[in-house]
Amino acid sequence: MIDRQGPAPSPAGSHAGAAPDPDARRRRPEAERRRAAAACLRSLLPELRPEAEAALGRAEAVGFLARLELWFPDLHLPLDALYGDRHDTDALAARLVRAALAAAAARPAPMRELDRRREVHPRWYQDPRMVGYVAYTDRFAGTLRGLHARLDHLAELGVTYLHLMPLLRPREGENDGGYAVADYGAVDPRLGTLGDLEELAGALRARGMSLCVDLVLNHTAREHPWARGWLAGDPRYAGFYTAFPDRTLPDAYEATIPDVFPDRAPGSFTWVPEARDGAGGWVWTTFWDYQWDLDHANPEVFAALLGTVLALADRGVEIFRMDAVPFMGKRLGTNCQNQPEVHDLLQALHAAVKLAAPATVFKAEAIVAPEDLVPYLGGHPRHRPECELAYHNQLMVLLWSCLATRDARLAVQALRRMDPIPSDASWATYVRCHDDIGWAISDVDAAAVGWTGAAHRHFLNDFYSGRYPGSFARGALFQENPETGDARISGSAASLCGIEQALDVGDGGALEAGIRRLVLAYAVAYAYGGVPLLYMGDELALRNDHSYLDDPALAADNRWMHRPWLDAAAFARRHDASSVEGRVFDWLRRLATTRADLLALHAGAPVEVLVLDDQRVLAWRRRHPRSGTFLGLANFAEHPASVDAGLVRGLDTVLSSDGQVRVQEGRAHLPALGFAWLAEP
Ligand code: GLC
Repeated sequence: MIDRQGPAPSPAGSHAGAAPDPDARRRRPEAERRRAAAACLRSLLPELRPEAEAALGRAEAVGFLARLELWFPDLHLPLDALYGDRHDTDALAARLVRAALAAAAARPAPMRELDRRREVHPRWYQDPRMVGYVAYTDRFAGTLRGLHARLDHLAELGVTYLHLMPLLRPREGENDGGYAVADYGAVDPRLGTLGDLEELAGALRARGMSLCVDLVLNHTAREHPWARGWLAGDPRYAGFYTAFPDRTLPDAYEATIPDVFPDRAPGSFTWVPEARDGAGGWVWTTFWDYQWDLDHANPEVFAALLGTVLALADRGVEIFRMDAVPFMGKRLGTNCQNQPEVHDLLQALHAAVKLAAPATVFKAEAIVAPEDLVPYLGGHPRHRPECELAYHNQLMVLLWSCLATRDARLAVQALRRMDPIPSDASWATYVRCHDDIGWAISDVDAAAVGWTGAAHRHFLNDFYSGRYPGSFARGALFQENPETGDARISGSAASLCGIEQALDVGDGGALEAGIRRLVLAYAVAYAYGGVPLLYMGDELALRNDHSYLDDPALAADNRWMHRPWLDAAAFARRHDASSVEGRVFDWLRRLATTRADLLALHAGAPVEVLVLDDQRVLAWRRRHPRSGTFLGLANFAEHPASVDAGLVRGLDTVLSSDGQVRVQEGRAHLPALGFAWLAEP
């Protein structure tokens, strides 16, 4: 419920008293900032060394202290930028280091072994054997215990990384698919217990699979103990959230903040009668009104979140999907996304976690414009380790654009314009996920190929909602904003690729094309570079699932149409080569096994998107110093296409939709909706 009425008493919330120049400390010369960090470490070490030896034993303490030397500047500099104007950075850093030491001491033996392995191979997540799988525990396997019976399925698909959708205890009723967490210290009892999670993490590890879980950093449910404590005036939670006494600041902020959920949760604040100053307040709620934004200007929030990450890492979580991170920093006059604070927070959290649990990596969920994306991977004017992984939402959006237009020019333009990522980072590439598709297409890129950004985004909404004449897609508009005309798209990959419509009308040719589109999109995601993520159900071409409409807690959010329950009958057909499921499943298996042996697909090998004379084709090349060149080709049109034969000279076809790539009359030919992976022998 959004209530815009409220009285007008005195100021509250740390934003009211924000420092006039929030970047003053960030602008200090780097050398000076590093000297301050070094001095802090020097004074800390004499006390810490014996503490570390007592807690960890001598050999482990040597490792901990070596990590401390390595990571300390990455902790101290951002902490100082974030909190230094109002808090003692040295004391805060020392406290957080001790929290990391305690977590290191509590780390179970199997996790310490993993730490050792990862310290030997710190870029493990860049390996071409990496293949991710993303699933809701209940929809995929019932419970965490039930998941053990699905591990063979994952192994068949070459999976080495399992992202289980939010599984910490959410609020009752509406909970944004689990992204409204009511307790960071417990698993959703419908799925199991923390013990079950730990056991599953162990079973996954034994099969070479890493567990990834969501960490919602931007907000908690309003039912979370931190929120309850804050409301009750418990001093431990003072300043955990932000409440404004009247509409002055909320109105000022909202003037430049775009709505995330314009149709059912417009605005970014919710009136809470019992909020902190006793007379009620406008609480910051970027997403739904029951998701209260944490006040990251408060170092106690940082310390509490660090505790949460460390506890889960000790339970066996190896990859944290850092949810909705762009929204953590708030600045008046901005869109309140991607602010410098956000990067400082991630860098400091990352460094602190590396001290205690070096096996752990972070994945940024930053679904933002291309120019804002690369910094989440540490790509700043000065490199700063931040998240090892980030979703490549540009590639995802552009794949859907290519399929609708049968034209790869926009993708070529936009992907070439992106900054390269740091060599120790990696993309998470994907075709579909649990969220809607927001058309993050830049006006600059659209103009460069002679299109208008707004008109193209409009076209894509028409096309994928099925309104566009001749569209093969069966999707639905999500969060249509009548004021701006903006909207996003819901729908499963198979339905968006045309498989649903073809099956409904019994059109064999259209079905063939739909399957080829789905395989083509995944063939790009599996070879573009990074960890490809397979979204549960896509390996079986599961279509939209409308059963969510029967559940009042879900019915209003059509993203549930592409969050299907695993269909037992479809699952049973996965080895039947004559079925749609069997065909798609076999392709996804082959993409993974072929990829595993291709060193050129190591995420550290840079990718280059090529400019071609056939606009229907996307071509990308990767060069690895050991294995040489890889070339990927994808034809998005329902007609054959071709590229200059010089591109494929000296390369063998390692996998393709239609056998060896045919070279004739100086051209290399690709069949309709065909793909090819080629590599140096
Ligand atoms: C992320 C999730 C999305 C959720 C939002 C708020 O973007 O992917 O599903 O609605 O965060 O937590």
